[in-house]
Amino acid sequence: KRIAVLISGFGSNLQALIDACNHCYINAEIVLVVSNKARVKGLTRAAEAGIDTAVIRAQEYPERIDYDRALADLLADYSVDLVVLAGFMRILSTDFVNTYHGRMLNIHPSLLPKYPGLNTHQRALDNGDKESGCSIHFVTDELDGGPIILQAKVPIFADDDAERIAQRVNSQELTSYPLVVKWFCENRLIMRDKKAWLDNHPL
Ligand code: GRF
Repeated sequence: KRIAVLISGFGSNLQALIDACNHCYINAEIVLVVSNKARVKGLTRAAEAGIDTAVIRAQEYPERIDYDRALADLLADYSVDLVVLAGFMRILSTDFVNTYHGRMLNIHPSLLPKYPGLNTHQRALDNGDKESGCSIHFVTDELDGGPIILQAKVPIFADDDAERIAQRVNSQELTSYPLVVKWFCENRLIMRDKKAWLDNHPL
């Protein structure tokens, strides 16, 4: 399969996916990395791996519909089968989401349905939660609301701050996301009836 990874920043998840493809853990090729921000570390990682990169800035396309059309056109040029959102900090329009229905994944740093949106770790702390984690899900119209495929949990300790929780969660992300992408690329994972299915079992 041909994968595009969409990023906005550091790209640790992107790096995990690059490594997983290079080691043939995932049987697929990352053909394109797109960022909405220039000069981010993730773009350097992609370039170092010999992957084509593109920056599409919001300033160039003030209307979301135009931004998303430019993005869709680019992905179509690359015949992308799977769109992987890895820290991509933009909301995608319904049209775009529909184009990649069942073929777009996101990772979110909370145990969804808890804490969609931003500042997940601080919110978990403020609520006195004893655990946090990450969720990988199919992307639908609902922000951070599509069918959940896999979650990994981590403890929250009494003396934690948001940054330490973020690191603990991130280390889980780096093994969880490659596993889910691997499943998808082996045609074991689909979205049907608003559910995620693995090997024909609902998750
Ligand atoms: C991750 O924590 C992910 O869950 C969130 O954004 C972060 C991206 O980190 N959506 P990185 O750019 O992959 O290092």
